Amino acid sequence: MKTRIYDFLKLNDDEREAALLEAARLIKAGETVVFPTETVYGIGANGLSEEAVEKIYTAKGRPSDNPLILHVNSFDMLKEITEADLTTAEKLAEEFWPGPLTIILKKSAKVPERTTGGLETVAVRMPKNHEALKLLEKSGVPVAAPSANVSGRPSPTRSKHVIEDMDGKVSMIIAGDSCEVGIESTILDLTQEVPMILRPGMISKEDIERTLGMEILTDKALERYNHHEEDVRPKAPGMKYRHYAPRAEMAVFIGDREKIKAGIEKMKNAEEKSGKRVGVILFGEKEYEQAAYTLFDELRKMDEEKVDLILAGALDVEDGRGEAVMNRMLKSAGYNIIKV
Ligand code: TXA
Ligand code: MG
Repeated sequence: MKTRIYDFLKLNDDEREAALLEAARLIKAGETVVFPTETVYGIGANGLSEEAVEKIYTAKGRPSDNPLILHVNSFDMLKEITEADLTTAEKLAEEFWPGPLTIILKKSAKVPERTTGGLETVAVRMPKNHEALKLLEKSGVPVAAPSANVSGRPSPTRSKHVIEDMDGKVSMIIAGDSCEVGIESTILDLTQEVPMILRPGMISKEDIERTLGMEILTDKALERYNHHEEDVRPKAPGMKYRHYAPRAEMAVFIGDREKIKAGIEKMKNAEEKSGKRVGVILFGEKEYEQAAYTLFDELRKMDEEKVDLILAGALDVEDGRGEAVMNRMLKSAGYNIIKV
């Protein structure tokens, strides 16, 4: 497939407007368009069309039981695709939308099962990125969009990542800014009596509890890194696949910060002596935003540099944002943990 790539950083306002109109035309025609959001780049298609959604699965090489997130730019669009009491959703939207929070609600008949992986519920969010909102406004339909990586690769947060993964597989790529958040949205299930976090993100449990004025739950499977329980099945279907994986082997050092540094240094020296190329990922203490912004880019860079072994230092999981980044780090490493 011939992919049209629009380098937004080089276009003037009129050219951008024209490109967004073209992108919207493609979405309405049932084609795929890669676009930036504030979290990661998404590969979008009309979420109400089975044929269009099918093209996303094909481009990603994604198992089709893994449901997609629908992106909306208005509450009216949300009402069309859900059949639920929206009181809680409204409170959350007021505080966090547009932004990196996805909510799960009972779906309306309009949403095909192909979009939701056969589930009766649907995941929805309103992205914050300007191009994403414009695209939604111009296409007028909810846009289904998973992260625009080939299934299993680190999520794309820079325009070069999407060109690497998606050139030749989609109709159009809007190559824009780097994604300012850098990890995917927080997913919150509102279909149960007490809301439950299914995927951690930069909007933390505490942020949500403060807004709702109540305690909420976290999917037990997310606590897996503390317990090493192999048999807990995550509730968000996508959380069970090996994810974000760099080609190199990877280990995460967990423990006291000084010991982490020393442990990494020691192993690095030993492995380099035996001829291995070693990469280190060690973020500044409490620099959670920076860690989220750079993690996936770092992982891809290490692949480019043909690193054999990546040694990463854990972040403080007491902070919800640290926990969110750690969730990705541990998955990248296939839960290969070294306690120091
Ligand atoms: O930040 C994001 O959320 C990005 C950008 C592009 O918006 N999108 C993203 O999509 O991360 P994706 O497809 O890579 O991840 C969606 C996650 C998967 O783990 C999927 O299983 C879960 O959401 N999910 C979707 N619909 C669900 C549902 N109805 N119930 C439970 N989990 C659901
Ligand atoms: Mg993904």
